[in-house]
Amino acid sequence: MSRTPVIVGNWKMHNTVGDALQLVRALKVKFLGVSGVEIGVCPTFVLLPAVIDALKESNIGVGGQNMYFENKGAFTGEVSPVQLKDLGCKYVILGHSERRQFFGETDELVSKKAKVAHSHGLIPIVCVGEKLDQRESGLTEEIVGKQVDGSLDGLTKEEMSKTIVAYEPVWAIGTGKVATTEQAQAVHAFIRELLRKKFDAAVAAEVRIQYGGSVKPDNAKGLLSQNDIDGALVGGASLKADDFSAIVKAAI
Ligand code: PGA
Repeated sequence: MSRTPVIVGNWKMHNTVGDALQLVRALKVKFLGVSGVEIGVCPTFVLLPAVIDALKESNIGVGGQNMYFENKGAFTGEVSPVQLKDLGCKYVILGHSERRQFFGETDELVSKKAKVAHSHGLIPIVCVGEKLDQRESGLTEEIVGKQVDGSLDGLTKEEMSKTIVAYEPVWAIGTGKVATTEQAQAVHAFIRELLRKKFDAAVAAEVRIQYGGSVKPDNAKGLLSQNDIDGALVGGASLKADDFSAIVKAAI
């Protein structure tokens, strides 16, 4: 089956409203009439209203970088799925390695959030990936396997089919050190096989698995041409309209 590639920009904690508007206005023009690829950007929460408004009637979806699993209540500093949906978000990144590393997010928490995201019609982009010492100790499959299993636990087959998984080796994030196409493809195939065992073959064939970690215009084509790499989650390069556009076009 053919999976539509999906390229999403993870802006992290960058951009003011002014920067954001400049960037998305440029992207809107660059992607005019572009098809055969799904495109998204995930700004910080405070930028969402301006970005969503600027991208009305465009082919660029918008998402949050995180959310809490409760709909509302006394959770100071958190943002709810209801609020993301209300603004017009399509995606939500969950369990990014920076959330896991700096904010103590666990597989169990991520799975809870993923389940709730679906109940509000948000598409979760669930991130997994090993650290450098884990890869060097030969633990990549063990670590990624545990994260895939725990972070996607409790999803129905239907929910899983719509979920996007992002494989992001932590050692490749923001380091300029990209995984080789062979390294990335091997882990993507491994994840797809895990999905087949945990859900079924149809689900495994349908789920889009993005690669993330120093994706740039010059390495995008090689990565995206691999059988099991169905898109990219792009950090640094998504902040530059030319670079992000080149990566999107490499997916077609
Ligand atoms: P990077 O970040 O492209 O800057 O390496 C990717 C990510 O963290 O999603």
